[in-house]
Amino acid sequence: MSSQQTVESWAADVEFERIGRFRRAVKCAVLHPLANYAPAGLWRALLRLCRSELAASNWADPGGWRSMVISYDGRPKQIADRVLVGAGSMATALRNRRRLAARLLTRLIDEAGHEPVNVLCLGAGPGTIITDALAATRRKACATLVDLNSDAFEYGRTVAAAKGVADRVRFVEGDVCHVHRMLDLPPDVVKMLGICEYLQDEQIELIGRAVAAVMPPGRPIVFNSLSRAHGTDRFFRRVFGLHMIYRSPQQLQALLGRAGYGDFVAVAEPLGVYHVIVGRRRP
Ligand SMILES: C[S@@+](CC[C@H](N)C(=O)[O-])C[C@H]1O[C@@H](n2cnc3c(N)ncnc32)[C@H](O)[C@@H]1O
Repeated sequence: MSSQQTVESWAADVEFERIGRFRRAVKCAVLHPLANYAPAGLWRALLRLCRSELAASNWADPGGWRSMVISYDGRPKQIADRVLVGAGSMATALRNRRRLAARLLTRLIDEAGHEPVNVLCLGAGPGTIITDALAATRRKACATLVDLNSDAFEYGRTVAAAKGVADRVRFVEGDVCHVHRMLDLPPDVVKMLGICEYLQDEQIELIGRAVAAVMPPGRPIVFNSLSRAHGTDRFFRRVFGLHMIYRSPQQLQALLGRAGYGDFVAVAEPLGVYHVIVGRRRP
């Protein structure tokens, strides 16, 4: 089996959320233009009036971990959030990315030849995805979770405890651009999910190089691309203040290719917003 076939077979039975043709057409014809072109001030006032936690968390920390957790949960308290999170393509794609990435990470940890398997998670937030994988793998594995915002860690510890993996996570407050200072333990698996879209090309390449310097050949790195297929980038920029960098799988693969990785396999979630990509440290 080729690497592509192997990774695709891992994802074959992941239960994704899908959007049917009719709903997709209504979104494109009505909802997305409304979201993108109604006055931003009006949207902000409406979201404030409805006490949207998703909007408030983005205003406080655009693209931060709290908005991610609200989208993952899928059942927020406020009606406005229920609409944004339940019907929004971006939130649906995020939940798909979580499931896809957790499955691929589980299998990558499973295939490691020794224990404990050390996973390094960059821009990890509270660690929702890696704790999903740690709870599902049959290997003994530990994860180091690096994030700029230590306020994610208390929530992260609660989540890890609920999944029975509290003793397998270590939280480190720090900037991923200084990852070379955090490599006391050579990682077996590196995870960079939900972070590349907030980093410049040079930063991604530098981080990739720093990690590659201590990673044994063949070890995997997992990251994601982001496309505009969600249809509401203008809304996110104007209303939430969220400025994401869109890159195709090929663009990211080229960046990490220069940093020492190859043998890339990209798997798309069904909405086509995210690809989760697995690369390997080149010999
Ligand atoms: C969109 S969230 C993704 C969280 C998690 N990886 C996930 O996919 O669920 C991005 C996270 O990256 C963190 N972050 C952004 N820039 C960072 C940096 N330079 N160093 C460390 N963490 C960073 C943010 O604090 C935030 O928790």
